[in-house]
Amino acid sequence: MRLIIYTGKGGVGKTSASAATAYKLSELGYRTILMSTDSAHSLGDSLDMELGSDIVHVKENLDVLEIDIIHEMKTKWNDIQNYVSAFMLSQGMGEISAEEMAIMPGMEMISALFYVNQFEDEGNYDVIVMDTAPTGETLRLLSFPDVTNWYLEKGFGVVKRLLHIARATVGKIMDMPLPSDEVMESVADIKDNMDRVKAILEDPQRTTVRLVLNPEKMVIKETMRAYTYLCLYNKNVEALIVNRVLPEEAGDGGFFKDKLEEQRQYMEMIHHAFDPMEIRYCETMRTELRGLEKLKLMGDMIYGDEDPAKVYAAESPMRFVTVDGVDRLEMRMPFVDSSNVELFRIDQNTLMVHVGSQKRNILLPDALVHAQVIGADFKDEKLVIRFKRD
Ligand SMILES: Nc1ncnc2c1ncn2[C@@H]1O[C@H](COP(=O)(O)OP(=O)(O)OP(=O)(O)O)[C@@H](O)[C@H]1O
Ligand SMILES: [Mg+2]
Repeated sequence: MRLIIYTGKGGVGKTSASAATAYKLSELGYRTILMSTDSAHSLGDSLDMELGSDIVHVKENLDVLEIDIIHEMKTKWNDIQNYVSAFMLSQGMGEISAEEMAIMPGMEMISALFYVNQFEDEGNYDVIVMDTAPTGETLRLLSFPDVTNWYLEKGFGVVKRLLHIARATVGKIMDMPLPSDEVMESVADIKDNMDRVKAILEDPQRTTVRLVLNPEKMVIKETMRAYTYLCLYNKNVEALIVNRVLPEEAGDGGFFKDKLEEQRQYMEMIHHAFDPMEIRYCETMRTELRGLEKLKLMGDMIYGDEDPAKVYAAESPMRFVTVDGVDRLEMRMPFVDSSNVELFRIDQNTLMVHVGSQKRNILLPDALVHAQVIGADFKDEKLVIRFKRD
């Protein structure tokens, strides 16, 4: 089963691109499910149809699921929700309702990840296309298998030990309700689920991330940051969808002449930041982009005759590794003939790399902002930058 995740800054066209991709896949004969983790449900708008909290069959080979987190809480998270609620009461706080728990950050994503496992087990789909909330949130959430497990290990590790002591002594410890076996089982289930989904998410041949952006400065910057983070989380970011491109003829008559010139500069900026990643384009539509017919048009613009399920690259052009305590950022830079590497720190966050005639701008993740660059070299078409943290 293939998983394609679309992400990007708010409003760039993630939902439209996801729906367009899913539509095209279904036409090619892939059993496809389009799933959204964004609580601002907009797949229905994009497809121009009513969706509910369950899977909706749209057409041959195409199903849609907009995750309704309150519904999920009330059904799948019942035991845990009841326990958290009892725990809050015992601590002198009010009970927590399913609705309140549903607004905890990340719940949509965890639920979506559960579905990924479920679909994998059931084997009913060839491809899952995942539409997500704007980058800031999604990035945190894509690290979820790790983060959730960390919480579970820390939090429930403590509870487990307490449980052990409590059972051995008086049966109740402090004023805290002890979780029932069902709760502990649910937690063990979540952990197990997260481990399995992590394996799927980090398999570069199955899960790939496609970044959607527009040719605008702020959007490009945020996309660069997202790219770095995704690489840090071991995701295969293999394609870029530049959406809302003004066609050349928009300059006829002069009205968009300056805008087009600006766009040319931003396209260059995009290349400097993302080459050699696969880049796809989609023009700004003349009329509202809504409904299957328009989505078909968008899918064709982005992918042409190509199969959107294909994996464009076996690994992200950029990755982070730690070797002997030294953080290394490795970037694939094919077609570079020189081994002469120059690094410039443009500001705290940004590193500019010159290799031969190529330029790359890299937005560093927070963890490396204060780190010192201790060296860089170029080997086997790869640039390796070494960092030392303070
Ligand atoms: N190429 C395009 N041409 C014309 N309109 C577009 C294009 N791409 C997207 N739109 C329109 O822009 C709006 C935002 O698009 P969309 O909902 O797909 O973005 P999004 O990235 O999912 O937004 P959000 O961050 O709010 O989830 C929608 O009204 C959509 O129809
Ligand atoms: Mg959206």
